[in-house]
Parts: sequence; C-alpha cells; structure tokens
Amino acid sequence: LNSKDVMRQSFERTQSRVVLALDLEIQDPQMLIEKSRSILSDVKEYICGVKINRQLLLSLGLPTLRDIVSQAHEYSLPVIMDAKLNDVGHTNAFMMRSFVQAGFDAVIASPVPGWEDGMDSVFDLARKEGKAVILLVYMSNPGAERFYSMMVDGPRRKPIFEHFAELAVQWKAHGVVVGATRPAIISRVRSLVGKIAIYSPGIGTQGGDAREALDAGATYLIVGRTIFAAARPEEAARRLCALTRACHQN
Ligand code: XMP
Repeated sequence: LNSKDVMRQSFERTQSRVVLALDLEIQDPQMLIEKSRSILSDVKEYICGVKINRQLLLSLGLPTLRDIVSQAHEYSLPVIMDAKLNDVGHTNAFMMRSFVQAGFDAVIASPVPGWEDGMDSVFDLARKEGKAVILLVYMSNPGAERFYSMMVDGPRRKPIFEHFAELAVQWKAHGVVVGATRPAIISRVRSLVGKIAIYSPGIGTQGGDAREALDAGATYLIVGRTIFAAARPEEAARRLCALTRACHQN
C-alpha cells in the first residue's frame, strides 16, 4: 500500500471529498477529547479524511492525539497534520518524525523555507516512510492576497503563488492547499499542478462556496466550523458530502 494514495483510496471508498478539520476549542482536555471523538464518530460516513490543527495538538499533546488518529484509522480515514512546517531543516525533520511516529498520514508544509536545509528533510522522510506532504500555495484569509499574489521576477514574471505551485510539482508533493475563498486561484493552480490533489479550506464560515471550489478544480474540501459547530454536525457533513458526490471528478 502506498500511503501517498490513501486519501484517493478513501475518496474512492466513501465518494466524499470532505476532509473534516477537527478544531474544537474546549478548555478541559477530557471534554475536548470526548467531544472530538464523538463528532468524528457522528460524521465518519460522510468524510474522506480528518485534519488536525494546533487546537488539538496544543491542548492534548501528541501522545493523546494518537487516540484520535487511531480512531480515524479504525474508520479507515487518513489523518493530516496541519503543521504548516516552516523552519530550518533539522527542526522540520524533528517535527515531521514526530508526526510520522504519531501515525499521521500527511503533513502540511510551507514552501517558503526553500529546499536546501529547509523542506528537503521533510520530503526525504515522507518518501522513506510512505507519507504525504501537502504544500501551502494560497491561504484562504482576506489578508493572504498581499503576499501570495506578490509578483516575483524570474524567467517569467509571475505571482509568487504560481511559483509555489510549480515547486509542488518539482518537489513531488502529494497535494497543495488553496483557499476556497478564491476559486479563480484554484483554477489557475489546477492548470499548473496537473493531477496533484488540491485541498481547499475556507468553506462556509470563511465565505468560500463548496460547489464553486469543486468546479474550479479543488479535489478535497477542508471543512471545520461549518460541520463541528453546526446544530447537527452529522447533517452538515451529510449535505456537504452529497454536494461533493454530485460534482465533477478530478
Ligand atoms: P474552517 O472552520 O474555516 O476551518 O472550516 C478551516 C481549517 O483549515 C485551516 N485553514 C488553512 N490551512 N491553509 C491551510 O493550510 C489555508 O489557507 C487555510 N485556511 C484555513 C484552518 O486553520 C482550519 O483548521
């Protein structure tokens, strides 16, 4: 089994393109773990994967997070660590190793440190361990435009996000992250990365539209608050899943 393809396999099994961002903010660690576990259990039929961010990592720590990773794996759902790795090589390598040991299937990394003694160790480790690296290409928040659309010189003058998309291809990333709030950017990135998976966060609460993101070429939708903060998370996940089933194939 090549675990780089686990998300694709999960999509083929579930026919859902929804990745649950499990970002609950609850002070009491016991309540946090119980609520996270119960939401995961409630929505498991309607999602193809789970993304964990700092909310759970900082509140529970990696050893406890393993329980959530194991629960997702019991449901045959791959788990992404949204670490946005962005440091020098040995520190990135330490974080990557820790996430690999905790059982994560994929890690999100920033392209900004560059390759040598930056992202090289992350991609090397991922290749050895059969894990996936997902590269941040364009963030979903309003302020992202200032930096991600900045023009850079080179053989062809282009916005920096296009350079990041090209790096994702060159570095053989499994996927890229492009915010759902900017469908035109998703289309542009799709034209640059070929078949590489595009993960798109920012649906609902941040203003992005699921159908527009999928039509523009997103492969997976990353959805947090619109599901877990809904009165009935199962219903919210079911609706989004039905929408992704009705949309195109990437
Ligand atoms: P919501 O609640 O807005 O949560 O559905 C979205 C999740 O995705 C993360 N996020 C991003 N991660 N690049 C990323 O790598 C982005 O542009 C981006 N925008 C949102 C967010 O932290 C949350 O976990």
